[in-house]
Amino acid sequence: MSICIGIDVGTSGTKALAINAKGKILAEASAGYPCHHPKPLWSEQDPDDWWKATVKVVRAVVKQAKLKPADVAAIGLSGQMHGSVFLDRQNKVVRPAILWNDQRTGAECEEIESRAGGRKRLIKMVANPALTGFTAPKILWLRNNEPRNFERTVKVLLPKDEIRRRLTGEFATEVSDASGMLLLDVVKRKWSKSLLSKLELDADLLAQCYESEEVTGTLTRDVAKKLGLSTDCVVVGGAGDCAAGAIGNGIVRRGLISTSLGTSGVVFAHSDQPQFDPQGRLHTFCHAVRGKWHMMGVTLTAAGSLGWFQDALCTDAKGKTVSFSKLTAEAAKTPPGAEGLQFLPYLSGERTPHLDPHARGAFIGLTLKHARGHMVRSILEGVTYSLRDCLSIMQDLGVPVRQIRASGGGAKSPFWRQMQADVFGKPVTSMVADEGAAYGVALLAAVGAGNFKNIEEACKATVKTAELAKPSAKARKVYDRNFPVFQGLYEALREEFPKLGA
Ligand code: XUL
Repeated sequence: MSICIGIDVGTSGTKALAINAKGKILAEASAGYPCHHPKPLWSEQDPDDWWKATVKVVRAVVKQAKLKPADVAAIGLSGQMHGSVFLDRQNKVVRPAILWNDQRTGAECEEIESRAGGRKRLIKMVANPALTGFTAPKILWLRNNEPRNFERTVKVLLPKDEIRRRLTGEFATEVSDASGMLLLDVVKRKWSKSLLSKLELDADLLAQCYESEEVTGTLTRDVAKKLGLSTDCVVVGGAGDCAAGAIGNGIVRRGLISTSLGTSGVVFAHSDQPQFDPQGRLHTFCHAVRGKWHMMGVTLTAAGSLGWFQDALCTDAKGKTVSFSKLTAEAAKTPPGAEGLQFLPYLSGERTPHLDPHARGAFIGLTLKHARGHMVRSILEGVTYSLRDCLSIMQDLGVPVRQIRASGGGAKSPFWRQMQADVFGKPVTSMVADEGAAYGVALLAAVGAGNFKNIEEACKATVKTAELAKPSAKARKVYDRNFPVFQGLYEALREEFPKLGA
């Protein structure tokens, strides 16, 4: 009984993988589902889709690795953060889940800051300002806009914790994901009674909060049978996908930073103490490492910008979608700076550094010379500048940057990895096994199962860095010149975005 399974309930799909006692991957599987946008800047998903995908991928992993029920000791859960699953007394979802990149809650963010006695006071209570994607504003939105649904709601769970409920029957969460609800006293690692009372929210709405490697329950009989596992299989707390991904990259010591390029983009720094950005541009959350924290900056639409471009504009003559590798190859043929073309990646508004739900995406500087390759390059550059915005704030706050580790789908492209090194002006390393959040929570499960003493030991034994991309002096010069132009373009358009409507 030494095998562990990690499950990541992502935005585009769910992934599961199984590892042995040494952390070697035995099998992995993923399954996709849609994201719905019933109105511009709204983002919703059906928790039933997450559950069907979870059952499918776990069964696939069990089959591929030829696992017997008694082989699997523990499961770790990771997932997209901040999403709200509203449950009624019969554990039925009251409405579709509202996701992390949904921007409908501007008014509720103002309401929270005012009820808390201002932004500064709020940051004192829960370490972060009210941001539209966080969970507490969504609960208030439900109360203000769908009062009948709010009255029916008895529990609010995060995406991975809804999957935990279906696996174990328990209402549980853990500190890293709970931090993103804006209801956790991040310093004390406990629900903030004072904020709950100011918001007139019942503490019973929330699940019990654990540390990330703690056991939160075991599989129910029906589920164990359905998945081909045993009722002795424990489910540990796990982590929000950012902390889980960081664990998968070994970000468990001061000085280590990871960048992740998935649908969203994240710059993540381990910290031994809770450290705050007084302007709230970076999030301060509990780390999935016991007694540690992290800071992170989030670009809402990172590789998601390239995905949008591909879906919207890149079909060939036969109607087939042009692949990412073809698009990036076209981009690589154009020079750094895309011959004056810039892209603002704010397709879902933006968190770091602007905290602006009204921000919008834009190509700026188009000329007749520009072809598709230039547009793709400008998208990759715009997203990378946005990560540099996050990194610069960290550096200004004195966060040490000893090593940057690149991860996520976007980092699989050597071209985009090199671009990170060139834009940051710092070496960027890739990882031997970039398996992301599912791997991170499989390691947390392995700690819970007793295969490793703690998560630091698990990372030391399993996580290895691979190739180092060093900044090229020539490209860096272009990017150092263009980065302030990128920053200025947002400033120039900031007041105009809200006038666009929709
Ligand atoms: C983090 C965030 C996103 C989602 C994406 O704060 O909102 O990275 O977790 O899955």
